[in-house]
Amino acid sequence: MYKQLQQRDMDSPPVNVSTLRQMKANREPIACLTAYDASFAQLVDIAGSDLVLVGDSLGMVVQGHDTTVPVTVDDIVYHTRLVRRGLRRAFLVADLPFMSYATPEQALDNAVRLMQEGGAMMVKLEGGSGQGEVVECLTRHDIPVCAHLGLKPQSVHKIGGFKVQGRESTAADKMVADAVALQNAGADIVLLECVPSEVGKRITESVEVPVIGIGAGPAVDGQILVLYDILDITLGRTPRFVKNFMTGHDSPLAAIEAYVAAVKDRSYPAKEHCFS
Ligand code: KIV
Repeated sequence: MYKQLQQRDMDSPPVNVSTLRQMKANREPIACLTAYDASFAQLVDIAGSDLVLVGDSLGMVVQGHDTTVPVTVDDIVYHTRLVRRGLRRAFLVADLPFMSYATPEQALDNAVRLMQEGGAMMVKLEGGSGQGEVVECLTRHDIPVCAHLGLKPQSVHKIGGFKVQGRESTAADKMVADAVALQNAGADIVLLECVPSEVGKRITESVEVPVIGIGAGPAVDGQILVLYDILDITLGRTPRFVKNFMTGHDSPLAAIEAYVAAVKDRSYPAKEHCFS
């Protein structure tokens, strides 16, 4: 009866929250990518990504918006359903979009939609210690949560642009305290975006749950990038942490495999991808 979630004729069983915690304990880097449809999800899964995120970045890279703010719960449910069909091994996380978790009740309703209608195994929300009540409510209902700290793209209009966060010592101290508070509220993963490598290291050492970074330096437990960025689909200027893995590879699958290998052997991120 429990077979589906354990082994699907595969070399290694599907990834779950315990796998991710064990990887942190074993100091095995966790390779993560975004995906938004079944075809790319299949490539990402075959390439060995441990975790796949249906991020609200889809608002920018798929829908063509300037920010993630216009993305709706219906959009995330739709794309999560597509991605779910492409996955066999990777752990599937879906974003709670802007203003879909303003109260614990609203967060619960929308998280249930992402899991039941979309097939997500965990939901991600952006927030600091102010989200403690929401995380506690989801945790009380056994909904796994990823807490996104650092640069929070849903707050772009409040912070005035996509900027590195936590450079000042008071902001860095607050981020560390927020990560600990959210872990204590029940968060199973912390995701850190655009912070100095030293802050990434401090938070990784301060919490027991896995810390996944995007522009958070080499000391975190895992790395995530937006799939379209590593495949060089994003035109124009990309953030410092982006690396184009199509260079030297003749197919999207080979590029994704190269990304996973680079995360696993810690050659990505290199110094030029990090903030100080
Ligand atoms: O929405 C997204 O894709 C994300 C990543 C940038 C981590 O949150």
